[in-house]
Amino acid sequence: MSDVRISESGFDLDQIDRLLTTTRAVRKRLDFTRDVPDELLFECIDLAEQAPTGGNDASRRWMVVRDQEIKNELGELYRESGEFFLKARGRLDGTGHDKEKVVSSSSYLVENLAQAPVLVIVAIWGIHDNSGRPGLFDSVVPSAWSFNLALRSRGLGSAYTTMLNGRVAELAEVLGIPDSVTTIVTFPVAFTKGTDFKPAPRRPAPEITYFDQWGFTRARPSAEGTARVADGQGVVVEIDTDARPDAVWPIISDIEMPARFSSEFLGAEWTSEGEPGVGSTFVGRNEIPDVAAWEVTCHVSAWEPERCFEWRITDPDKPGAIWRFDLAEQGRGSRLRFSMIIGEENNGTAPQALKNPDREEQVLNGRRQTLKANMQATVEGVKALVDGD
Ligand SMILES: Cc1cc2nc3c(=O)[nH]c(=O)nc-3n(C[C@H](O)[C@H](O)[C@H](O)COP(=O)(O)O)c2cc1C
Repeated sequence: MSDVRISESGFDLDQIDRLLTTTRAVRKRLDFTRDVPDELLFECIDLAEQAPTGGNDASRRWMVVRDQEIKNELGELYRESGEFFLKARGRLDGTGHDKEKVVSSSSYLVENLAQAPVLVIVAIWGIHDNSGRPGLFDSVVPSAWSFNLALRSRGLGSAYTTMLNGRVAELAEVLGIPDSVTTIVTFPVAFTKGTDFKPAPRRPAPEITYFDQWGFTRARPSAEGTARVADGQGVVVEIDTDARPDAVWPIISDIEMPARFSSEFLGAEWTSEGEPGVGSTFVGRNEIPDVAAWEVTCHVSAWEPERCFEWRITDPDKPGAIWRFDLAEQGRGSRLRFSMIIGEENNGTAPQALKNPDREEQVLNGRRQTLKANMQATVEGVKALVDGD
C-alpha cells in the first residue's frame, strides 16, 4: 500500500498541498546572482493566464523588465514609496514584535528591488471607473497568484508587491505604458536560495469560517452539513478600536464588564484567591428575563494579559460553554474578538436542541442570534469605553 494521497480528481495531494502552503513572500532568499531564463517566465505566464478574467476578456498584459537602468529607476521609485518600512525597521529591530520579521524582510526588498534579475509587472487594459462591475484588480489578482505558484513549483520565488501602485504615472512613464492600461502588481523574480519554505501560521478555518449567518462558527466539520450540538456551534463578534491592547485589556479582563452591556449577564465575582490566572474561578450570574435565572462557576482556561482571556463554564473538562476574548494589534489600534462555543452538556441549549433532531439546528441558531446580539452590544460597549465615543 502506498502512502500517496491521490484525490478523486487524480492529484497527488501532498505535492499540491505543499505548493499551496509553502509559497511564501520571498525577499531575503531571492538569489540575485542567478539569471532567470525567459523560457521559464513564458511557462509561468502561460500557466497564470489559465486564471479567470471578468467577462472572459483577454486583457492582461505582462511586462518583464531586465534592463538594469530601468530596474534602477523602478528600484528608486519603490525605495521612495517604502521609506516607512525602513523607519519601522529602525523601531522594531530586536524588539521581538510580531511584525519585526516581515518589516525587516520588506525593508530588504525596499533597498534591493533593482537587484532582482527580473521584475515582472502585471497590467490590464482599462482604468478604474468605480462602476462596481468586475474590477481590474479582480481580473489580475487570481492570475498573479497562479504566477507566484508556478514560480515556486520551478524553484523560483517572488513577493507580491503593490507599493508601486502609488506611483502609476511614473511607472507608466518609465515603461512606456499607455494611459488606458492599469498596472496592478510588481514581482521581483529570482531563483530562491534553498527551496525549504514552510507553511505560515494562519488562523485555522473553524475560527474564520461562518455558516449561514455572519459570526456563526463550527468547531468541527459536520457530517450532515447542518448545525449539530456535537460539532461545537459557536458565535464570534469582532470590533476594531482606536485604543491599543494595553488600554483595552483592563476592560475585557474585568469580569463584571459584560453585565454593563449584555441583557443576560447580571454580574460576576472572583471565587478564587490571589491574582487571576489559568485555574482561577469566578461565579457569574445570568438571566433570560421572564424565562430563567442561573449562576455558573467559570474556570479560567487562558489568561495572557493584552492577548486573551478564556473561561469554561461549569465543568472545565466538559464545559457548558467556552467563552473567550482575543486582542491583537490592528493598524494603530486593536481588534477585539469575543467568541463562544456551545458545549455538548452542562448548559440549557444542548438538551433543548437534542430533544428533537429535526429542530436541532433551529434551536442552536435561535440561541446564537440572542448570544450574538448580547456579544455585539458588549464589544460595542468596550469600544465606546476605550475610544471615548
Ligand atoms: C495585496 C498585497 C499587497 C502586498 N504588497 C506588498 C508590498 O508592496 N511589498 C512587500 O514587500 N510585500 C507585499 N505583500 C506581501 C505581504 O507582505 C506578504 O504576504 C506577507 O509578508 C506575508 O508573507 P507570507 O505570505 O510569506 O506569509 C503584499 C501582499 C498582498 C496580498
